[in-house]
Amino acid sequence: MKVLAINSSARIGGQSKTELMLNHLVEGMRDAGAAVEVMNLHKKSIKNCIGCFTCWTKTPGKCLHQDDMSNEIYPKYLDADLLVLATPLYHYTVNAEMKAFIERTLPDLQPFFKLRNGVTSHPIRHKTPPVVALSVAGFPDESVFDLLSSYMNFIYHGRLLAEIYRPAAESMRPSDGGEKVADILDATVQGGRELVKSMTISPETMARIKYPFVNFETMAPIVNIFWQTCIDEGVTPKEFEKKEMVPRPDSIETFVALMGLAFNKEKAGDAEVKIQFLFSGEVEGRCYFSIKNGNLEAVLGSADNPDLTIETPFEVWMDITTKKADGQQMFMEQKYKVSGDMSVLMRFGDFFGK
Ligand SMILES: Cc1cc2nc3c(=O)[nH]c(=O)nc-3n(C[C@H](O)[C@H](O)[C@H](O)COP(=O)(O)O)c2cc1C
Repeated sequence: MKVLAINSSARIGGQSKTELMLNHLVEGMRDAGAAVEVMNLHKKSIKNCIGCFTCWTKTPGKCLHQDDMSNEIYPKYLDADLLVLATPLYHYTVNAEMKAFIERTLPDLQPFFKLRNGVTSHPIRHKTPPVVALSVAGFPDESVFDLLSSYMNFIYHGRLLAEIYRPAAESMRPSDGGEKVADILDATVQGGRELVKSMTISPETMARIKYPFVNFETMAPIVNIFWQTCIDEGVTPKEFEKKEMVPRPDSIETFVALMGLAFNKEKAGDAEVKIQFLFSGEVEGRCYFSIKNGNLEAVLGSADNPDLTIETPFEVWMDITTKKADGQQMFMEQKYKVSGDMSVLMRFGDFFGK
């Protein structure tokens, strides 16, 4: 099976979640024996369709533009047994590069009007490949793809084999080793295998690909402090990642949410400790973290018999959390106070080092 996989993300080379999902799908397709060519539209020159209808009249089936679409992509598209269209979700639909590609497949059609299921359409000129749509979005709601799905189903009516839509894609960090993210990516590989073997993806595999590993409530606090930190520090998300920055919590709730992400289960091992924070200054209040059997429980309020108590101005601890200040230095300068088992403090970086 010859597969042409078109990727229209401009963030290829590591940052792109379209690329992340597509790479896993392609891995599965190749594993099942398909010959897959991945084409990154961002590296190609595709002029916009100018609506001259030359491809319908003077040179039927041939566009007048001389560019990568006419000379390279379109012939490969006609020759493919399966087409994967992978696009980031931009304003609830395909991005501009993908739209330009789709419009430039106009030579596919003949100008005549015919009825298809009671609606006006054009007859297809060539044998065109079945399509798999793949997209990723920032928002966590599955419904974010409703418009895209409706568009894809309309234009690829009768030849849309599968729709792989991954919400909350920006929160998928395989390097974190999150089990659920790992399973989503494994399921995407499996989806690739199934497509080659049976031209469809089973409902079980699709449910794993779409698994809602986060929702608005879990995502929004972290997303919001992440963007606020980018704004305050004047960095783009890419620069934020490159500099290995940490989002700056602005409340005890967001601090607790961040610590949940930073918790390192493996390093915590069989430790059983309670760490109490007493915050003053910019934000006043208290919370504690209870670590037991490799699990973390974060609670607003006071613990009974904590092993370690950290009494600190909120802003001092947030400076330490975001690596703006050195924890040991701040301790020497008595910017915060600690009581209880100091060995727990020594292991703090292990517990929350992710
Ligand atoms: C111009 C633009 C429009 C976007 N529109 C949406 C949107 O409508 N819904 C959404 O959930 N995410 C939206 N996003 C977020 C992207 O879908 C998300 O960042 C995705 O990971 C981008 O794909 P990539 O990682 O392959 O570049 C938008 C991003 C940009 C830059």
